Order: sequence, then C-alpha cells, then structure tokens
Amino acid sequence: MCCNTCTCNQDIMKLLHYTVYTIFLAGLVSVQASPDVLEAENAAFFEGKQVIPRSDASGQATLKIYKGQAVSIEFCLTKHSEIEVQNVWYSNDGESDLITVTVDNKGLGKVVTEPLNKDGEGWNIFRPSGPLGSIVYLSEGRHQISFYVEKGDEYGVEIDKIELLLHNGKEENSLDCKVFCFDDISYDHGIADTGFGLYTSKGKLVQKSKKTLCAEEDNIHIPIFHDSARKYIISANLPQYTSFANSRMADWENCKMTQSLWSFRDIELSQTQRVTQASGVATMSVTPLDTDQQSHLISYGLIIEFSLDGPSLGMMDSELGSIIKVYFRGIIMPVDVSMQYFGRRSQWSESTNKTVHSNKTWDTWNVPDFAWREGRGNSIRLTITAFKEDQIQIGEIVMDKRGQVIDQSLMAYYDGMTIIEVVDMDVWWRVNETMTLKTLNNGRVFQGVDYFRIYRKIPWSEKDFCQVFVMYQDGNVRLLPITPHGLDWIPFGSSILIGQSDHMAFRPAAPLRHADIDPKELTIQLTYWDGSFLSLKLDITMKETMVIVSDAVYARPLASYPFLTFRSMWVADGNADVDHVGVDGNEPHHILSGWETLRGTSYAFFRKCISKHNTLSPDLRVKIID
Ligand SMILES: *[C@@H]1O[C@H](CO)[C@@H](O)[C@H](O)[C@H]1NC(C)=O
Ligand SMILES: *[C@@H]1O[C@H](CO)[C@@H](O)[C@H](O)[C@H]1NC(C)=O
Ligand SMILES: *[C@@H]1O[C@H](CO)[C@@H](O)[C@H](O)[C@H]1NC(C)=O
Repeated sequence: MCCNTCTCNQDIMKLLHYTVYTIFLAGLVSVQASPDVLEAENAAFFEGKQVIPRSDASGQATLKIYKGQAVSIEFCLTKHSEIEVQNVWYSNDGESDLITVTVDNKGLGKVVTEPLNKDGEGWNIFRPSGPLGSIVYLSEGRHQISFYVEKGDEYGVEIDKIELLLHNGKEENSLDCKVFCFDDISYDHGIADTGFGLYTSKGKLVQKSKKTLCAEEDNIHIPIFHDSARKYIISANLPQYTSFANSRMADWENCKMTQSLWSFRDIELSQTQRVTQASGVATMSVTPLDTDQQSHLISYGLIIEFSLDGPSLGMMDSELGSIIKVYFRGIIMPVDVSMQYFGRRSQWSESTNKTVHSNKTWDTWNVPDFAWREGRGNSIRLTITAFKEDQIQIGEIVMDKRGQVIDQSLMAYYDGMTIIEVVDMDVWWRVNETMTLKTLNNGRVFQGVDYFRIYRKIPWSEKDFCQVFVMYQDGNVRLLPITPHGLDWIPFGSSILIGQSDHMAFRPAAPLRHADIDPKELTIQLTYWDGSFLSLKLDITMKETMVIVSDAVYARPLASYPFLTFRSMWVADGNADVDHVGVDGNEPHHILSGWETLRGTSYAFFRKCISKHNTLSPDLRVKIID
C-alpha cells in the first residue's frame, strides 16, 4: 500500500516540475503582507456539492471533492491585479491527490496532497499546499478560481480555504463581489461624425482630487482648462448602467459632522490652583480668583480659548452664532455664573448672568452670528461664584453651532411648464455675498439670492414638476434629466462649477453677481463678480438636460483660471457619484487614480459600478465646441 502511494507521489512530483512554470516576483513593486482568503465551502453549486462541518477548518467547514470533479469559487477584483495562490489548505485521509488549479481557465499550478492514514482522523488536520508558482494577470471584475481533481482515491479530498496574493501596488483591492461593475459602458463622443472638436484646440483636465471616507464630502475635484472656451455643452443623462434602485439618502458614516465645536467634561474647581485641559481646537483653564472671608464666597475664572474654521476653508463655523451650554454637579447653595465672549470685535462682550440652583440641568447662553473670528483669537470667560464650603464641579461645558432655519424660497416664474424659484439660505458660505436675478418677461428683480432653481413639468405626470437645473451664487451647478417614469424624484450627484475659479482655493468658487433669465426661452445671462459674462441656454428633452454655454467673455487668464470645475464624490467603487472619466472616446480612466492630466475636447464623467449612494444620479458630459 505504502509503496504504491510513494510511486504515485513521485510521478506527480515530476509532473509538477514539468508543467508548472514559475514567474519570479522581480519587478513587482509590493506584495500585500497578508493574503486574501477564499473559503472553499462558498464554491458555486454543483451536482452533489458536499460541505462538511470540521471544527478545525477555517469557517468550520470544508468542501469535499472527488476524482473527476471540478468546482469553482467566484471572486471579484476592484482593481486589476496580478494574482497567485499562496496556499490551498486541505485535509486528506488516505492516498495523495492531484488537483489542477486554474483561474478563468488560465493555469495557476497544481496541488499534490500529502498522503495520511489516520482512520478518518486526518480529515480535521489542515495542511497548506505552499505557493503554486504561477502569477496570472486579471482585470477588474468577476473571476472564477477552479479546482479539478485529476488523481485521487475514492475518499476524495477536502479543501478548506485558498490564500491568494494580490500584487497591485499600494492600492487596496478586495475579493468580495458586493459591487457590480459593467465593463461595457462607453460614451460616443461623436467627434469624428460632427466635426465638432476636430478643429477645436484641446482642453486639459487636471487631477486635484483627494481620498475621503465620507460620502457627503466632494473629494473629486477636476478643474478644466481651455484656451478659449467660448462655447461648450454640458449634459446630464441617467447613468448608463442598468439599475432600477433609487437609493438617494445622505450617508454620514465616516463624516466629521458634529454639532459641537468643542466640549470639556468633569472639571474640578480647585480652590488653590489653576487647572488646565486641552481638547481639539480649544484649551481651558480655571483659576480660583478671590475669596470673600465674610460671606464665604469664592469666585473662579474659567477661560476657554479656541479657533474656528471659516469661509477660507468653505466653512461657516466662525460666522454662525453659537450656543454655550454648561451643567454643574455638587450644587448645595445657588451658584452665580457670568458669561462673556471675545472674538471679532477684539473686546469682551457685556456679561450675561445666570443663577444655577440644581445639579445636572443645562444652562445656555446664545452668542450671535458674526461674533467670532476665523482662526484663532476666540475666547469665552465664565465667572463662577459659589460658597467656599460647597465642592462644585462642572459636569460638562459645550459650544454648539446654532440651529439653522430651512431655506426660504420664492416663486419667480410659473407658466404650467416651467417654474423658477429663487432661494435665500439661512447661512450661505460666501458670507454676505448674494446675487440678484431678473426675470426678463416682466422685468422683476429679486435681491439677496443664494441660489435659483428651475423645475420642469414631468411629461408623464398630470401635475408634478421636477428640478432640472440649480445654480448657486458660487457658480456651482447641479443638473438632472427629467425624472424617469415610475419614480417620484431622483437625486443630484456630481456638480459642475461654471465660471472661472481659483483652483488652489480650498473650496473653489466663481461668484455670481447677477442673472437675467428669459423663462420662455430658458436662456440665462450671467454676470460674475470678477467681470466675466456667460450665456446659458437650457435644452430639456426626454432623454437629457443640456446646458449650452456660449458668448463667454472671461475676466481672468484662461491658462491659470479654469473655466469649469467638475466636483463629485468617490469613496469606493459602488459608493460614488462618479467612478470613471472618458476623454474623446479613449479608454476611460478611473476617476481618482492613474492619471494627472488628460487632454481632449469631449469628456464623460460616469459610473461603471452600481453605486449604493445616489444610484440614479446622472452621468455628466462636457463638450467644447469653440
Ligand atoms: C447636588 O448633588 C449633591 C451630591 O453630589 C447633593 O449633595 C446636593 O444636594 C444636590 N443638589 C441639589 C440642589 O439637589
Ligand atoms: C454679572 O456678574 C458680574 C460678576 O460676576 C458683575 O460684574 C456684573 O455686573 C453682572 N452683570 C449684570 C448685568 O448683572
Ligand atoms: C457680514 O455682515 C455682518 C453684518 O452686517 C458683519 O458683521 C460681518 O462682518 C460681515 N462679514 C463679512 C465677512 O463681510
């Protein structure tokens, strides 16, 4: 018996050396330290599939296969990669088996199992095959790794798990198939057919995106440069991938989104020494001030100094009013608390006094809008007066942003087909900067506009309208095609900044001064604060919403100030408002990686992978005509 097995094994070893070619790792940049694991029991269904419970197996189960059987396990790559099998973990009780391993019908190598005779005990002993030798290049998407038992005894062999090594540099990859990507999505850039673009000089897209984990942050930032940009077309279509899901809720997971600007907890008020604490952007100190021996009163001075983000970072924390909240513990006799703040006016405010009677009840003070300054140099001061005998503590002191009132909108135009609304936001990040809007049909002028939006009647509805165009005072535009039949609304996703902006700015803007709208023609003349002018014409069809921009006159040099900026979000494929960019019909690039500048006249910003975020938000295209 033994001898038989040995011969058999030697045969296999020869075969192994002969057929398996090895590619050495030379030239590959980095190898992921830990292998990715596929559980064999997750193999696709096949006739007679047997999953065996085994206590020592990974996932407490194995897949049993017999001579002549072939099994496949599916996995996905989010990025193209070279892969190799580091180990196939198996158990065997009996003679050696020979298993051929392939991926998408390309050979990865062979596994020769060690013989073992343990009267059945051997099935719970797992052993690694060692590296199979071959490295295979795989594109992103779905793949199958397959096992075929060429030789083996009647008891078969059990496979526990497969360890794969992915060689794809530092980029993350993952094997699960939660995300579905279409590999056949393309846009017809129509350059050759129409002649458009043939004689137009090429524009340049510049990669200025950064990574994020927060789906509500616009991390994709692509300024577009062109030497004239007198005329161009932007269009918004439904995504080209096929999905009827309409997921559209904001996802604040991994977003830095706190109402509190700072907070301190459990502050002991010491009668003898100064106590300090730091917390993020704020530092706190409490000092015993004076004690009145007669009245047995002691005062403490608590000062919190902090910095706030402001408009230069596209934030409003330094502009918005805030609420200071505090509660105490250990209150026996009433405690007097006086609050003052110091900020933009560089002097302490009047004090506002309160008397605290109970433990654990919040007292609040409101600080008005525009009281703070951007950056450092903000403070609050509490003077706390209590009986010396009472050991009081501050349970917590917090500063929150004030709540915001919802946007106030006003109908500027209505004709049964089109609605135009002007909107005033409670807090607009371009502080104190607004635009005016004039409806040319009646000459009416609207002041203090933060943004305006245009609705279109939905052709298949009796009374419903949908938003197709929104333009903010900072030049940002959001576009939607008409809501598809059967849905109530679809979300915006990517946006586009129309007008020249400083691409180095933390939050770029092309601030608008005025818009003249002809509501019947749907033409808009824009005047910018920098002196630029543009004409827009909206063309809303069943299929898409188009904005034709023409007669552009730019105030700043086109070589250094982009005329357009594409902005969007990408956290991962499948959680993104855009995942690819295609230029002039060439092989599309991933939106965040593998390129720095792209040249051409026609750009498509689209998704290949069905996104759980804003599933039906549109793909956007830009085509430079002149
Ligand atoms: C507050 O809590 C302290 C104990 O921490 C207690 O002695 C005191 O009576 C409480 N004060 C009031 C007003 O309930
Ligand atoms: C508030 O209290 C402070 C001392 O704690 C005092 O100087 C100030 O006059 C008081 N302000 C008012 C308005 O009562
Ligand atoms: C905005 O207006 C308010 C109130 O008039 C003023 O206090 C504030 O300083 C202004 N801010 C800027 C940035 O001009």
